[in-house]
Amino acid sequence: MLRRLSIAVAGGLLLASAVAGCGDSSDSGSGDGGGGGDKITLGFSQVGAESGWRTANTKSIQESAQSSGIDLKFSDAQGKQENQIKAIRNFITQRVDVIAFSPVVESGWGTVLKEAKDAGIPVILTDRAIDDPDTSLYKTFIGSDFVEEGKKAGDWLVKEYEGKSDPVNIVELQGSPGAAPANDRKSGFADVIKNETKFKVVASQTGQFTRTDGKAVMETFLKSQPKIDVLYAHNDDMGLGAIEAIEAAGKKPGTDIKIITVDAVKDGMTALSEGKINFIVECSPLLGPQLMDLVKKAKAGETIPQRVLTEEGTFTPEQAKEALPSRKY
Ligand code: AHR
Repeated sequence: MLRRLSIAVAGGLLLASAVAGCGDSSDSGSGDGGGGGDKITLGFSQVGAESGWRTANTKSIQESAQSSGIDLKFSDAQGKQENQIKAIRNFITQRVDVIAFSPVVESGWGTVLKEAKDAGIPVILTDRAIDDPDTSLYKTFIGSDFVEEGKKAGDWLVKEYEGKSDPVNIVELQGSPGAAPANDRKSGFADVIKNETKFKVVASQTGQFTRTDGKAVMETFLKSQPKIDVLYAHNDDMGLGAIEAIEAAGKKPGTDIKIITVDAVKDGMTALSEGKINFIVECSPLLGPQLMDLVKKAKAGETIPQRVLTEEGTFTPEQAKEALPSRKY
């Protein structure tokens, strides 16, 4: 009976998502669904599949849910906030035990999160923060400090050009507009380099966190900017797309144009080890195991910290060579 109910609930969710245009939605579990049985039901709304980082993050969440015995209802927002809002409302209707999501953008979550709160369903923010001042709308936020990541990128640049006075022209590939990592990586970086007048960001545009857009925008930068010394890309994928554009323009990435990126996924680390990227700031996508612990605690009504910070490092080409053989993503 419960099994039949589970199938009906999952089917209903899929149908609702399809009608609402919410993109992929899947139920990985064989649990009771709807928060009705012993198994915890987690509704998770993912940003999309824009980058290698995101693919690794999705895998981590799906695998960890399975190994933790959590029934995961997974919905892919395909980069659209309206899809995430619809998915969250579906999760509320289904009465899942806990809702987690990685917000596409920072703003505009107050109404739907208030609905979840009124329904008594705890919400966990993963990977990205929101800018709503009402922190009672969610139990905790697990993820990186993106401002710090931007600062690490800026610190490397300052050191790299230490003692030199010639102007350094920088082009910047921003992440998707309004997303916390795009806003914060930009501001953290700007905060560090503003102290030295030789650093000048001559062009800054979104590359949507994708390889395709990173390549296309870099092509326009190369055409419009007479001198580019440095590329700062808010993720590896955009940096990798830009490398293709730089090579097609007959320049040597990493030498003619120095490149800094964020994430440290395998493809980025490979380019770093080959000298095509000069420095990578790490951002870990492996949030699944910690998220499942928090889900269990939230369901049990235990007190959990309001902020769970991910520990991360940075990589030079030498460090990338060492790390690559055991890199999981
Ligand atoms: O929110 C994390 C960011 O989103 C990653 O750095 C980027 O690759 C992804 O798309």
